[in-house]
Amino acid sequence: MYSEKVMDHFTNPRNMGSMENPDGKAQVGNPTCGDIMEIAIKVEENKIKDIRFKTFGCGAAVATSSMVTEMAKGKTLEEAEQLTNKTVAEALDGLPPVKMHCSNLAADALHKAIQDYREKQTKKG
Ligand code: FES
Repeated sequence: MYSEKVMDHFTNPRNMGSMENPDGKAQVGNPTCGDIMEIAIKVEENKIKDIRFKTFGCGAAVATSSMVTEMAKGKTLEEAEQLTNKTVAEALDGLPPVKMHCSNLAADALHKAIQDYREKQTKKG
């Protein structure tokens, strides 16, 4: 029922864990199931230099989070903002329809972490 890519990212998640002093971070909850996802980013010269995720979610949430961190790393903030739940699911060769909602967390958390970074920059003046 799951693609090989989903299984690969689920059994061997990339960029999982916490980050000290992130430049931006966000936590989002999935209204459908109540699961939670956290993403933290380090930004240098407008690019995502490093990224970490933590999730209290199902296997599909782990796989989509892992994939979104890989896709976002090294990208400019604007490019990373173009990543959507759909592009992440597609990069994993799809998710079972009942699991599509699980991919909502990944891109949303990334976008919010970028927003958090931008807000902090504005405050710094
Ligand atoms: Fe909650 Fe998948 S069931 S994220």
